[in-house]
Amino acid sequence: MTLKDKYNQYTSGISAISIFVPEHYFQLEELAAIRGVEEEKFTVGLGCRKMSVLSPIEDPVTMAAMAGRDLLENNQISPDRIGYLVVGTESAVDESKPIAVYLHEMLGLEDNCRCFDIKNACYAGTAALRTAMAWTMSPASKGRLALVITTDVAYYDLGSPAEPTQGAGACAMLVGPDPGILNLDVTNEAVYTRETMDFWRPSYRNSAIVNGHYSLECYLEALRKTWGMYREMTGYRMSDYDYLLFHTPFPKMAWKAHNLIYKLEGGMKSIGISEEESFKLKVLPSLKAAEEMGNLYTSSIFAAITSLVEFAPLKTGNLIGMFSYGSGSSSEFISGTIGNEISRWSGSTGLSSMLENRTGISYDDYVLYRAAYEQRMKDGYFVNHEPTTSSPIVYLGIRNHKRLYAYALPGKSGVKTIGIQSSQENKLHR
Ligand code: CAA
Repeated sequence: MTLKDKYNQYTSGISAISIFVPEHYFQLEELAAIRGVEEEKFTVGLGCRKMSVLSPIEDPVTMAAMAGRDLLENNQISPDRIGYLVVGTESAVDESKPIAVYLHEMLGLEDNCRCFDIKNACYAGTAALRTAMAWTMSPASKGRLALVITTDVAYYDLGSPAEPTQGAGACAMLVGPDPGILNLDVTNEAVYTRETMDFWRPSYRNSAIVNGHYSLECYLEALRKTWGMYREMTGYRMSDYDYLLFHTPFPKMAWKAHNLIYKLEGGMKSIGISEEESFKLKVLPSLKAAEEMGNLYTSSIFAAITSLVEFAPLKTGNLIGMFSYGSGSSSEFISGTIGNEISRWSGSTGLSSMLENRTGISYDDYVLYRAAYEQRMKDGYFVNHEPTTSSPIVYLGIRNHKRLYAYALPGKSGVKTIGIQSSQENKLHR
């Protein structure tokens, strides 16, 4: 057996996907009016329409748990089939305790499930996916599946240039050897790492610091490098791809990314269609979540996959190229082919209905929810709220430096809690 044949027997990728869309959004035209800028700067210049805003009973943990819960429930995946849970996030709620362990409890996973978080700016989700793919291809997985969950709040200072690109959301993916949605290339790694200060968030801050225009250059440099590497490894050209997906801090960035590749590949002369047509065909269907929810950091590339699955006329075997970028910086270009269960998923990811069922909030509420976001990082914050059918997992606050959650397990009656004394005592005795 040649080395190539040996590796060709391994497959891994995404067999189920779900997205969590927060209930509240703030309209960017309203923000533009309040900030005294032309609304076209936000809606055309950046391509943003709405930003998702967390309510006081949501946080990165509840968003992740809701995405994971939907994934397991909607696909009737029994928790004992999951042997590996990895969370990609740059919105950690604790410097020590991983979000994955909260999710382990809220999703009712088995004790022998490996759980951990990865931090690597927006690239953390792709890094998480890579480790999950490797595990599912290893004998240690013993037929069990991996769960990859990404969750983030993109949060900048009021009135800063990055404010219109804020957002929040989470994605969950089931990863295994039989990827009905997206079969990923497991043999090529086009990765690029370069130390740089384009965007960062010191541990003592809620909001990120951005060297805005420079960050665009860093992103495009990383794309140029990884695109070139992957092209060299695989021989794939732009015209081979049915769709190209990009990390999308704001939709216009995907336009800039496509523009770079279009030019690198020789433009109209070698590609045969205009840049506008190419963008419309290959990129536009993947931008819906970014337009409607804002920057989702680690979830950005997976929200692009979800948008594509929801809105594009995908066919089994379509070739998809994906660029993942994390400031700081780490990046990767990866490709995959659409799996044989795509017809079941098209239009059924839940994204459309979640977007439709949201509520717009006023500027006053936007500012209030921001204040709550800042407060709820501090000891003593508490909201008295019971889980409901529409919000079965809620964040209650912090007491004695412990995060408190109330949640209802799928299909079971009663409310369980995390971080509250009686629940801990129960756990010790179970
Ligand atoms: N009508 C139409 N377009 C208009 C306009 C109008 N009236 N006014 C301005 N514009 C256009 C501008 O021409 C510009 O478009 P081009 O870039 O195509 O020229 C666009 O609107 C934005 O205008 P500015 O560049 O003047 O905007 P700005 O300087 O106020 O802020 C930004 C833009 C730097 C991207 C800022 O939003 C920011 O800092 N964002 C966060 C950083 C970021 O997302 N970086 C991306 C790469 S890093 C990464 O990807 C990691 C991550 O997730 C953060």
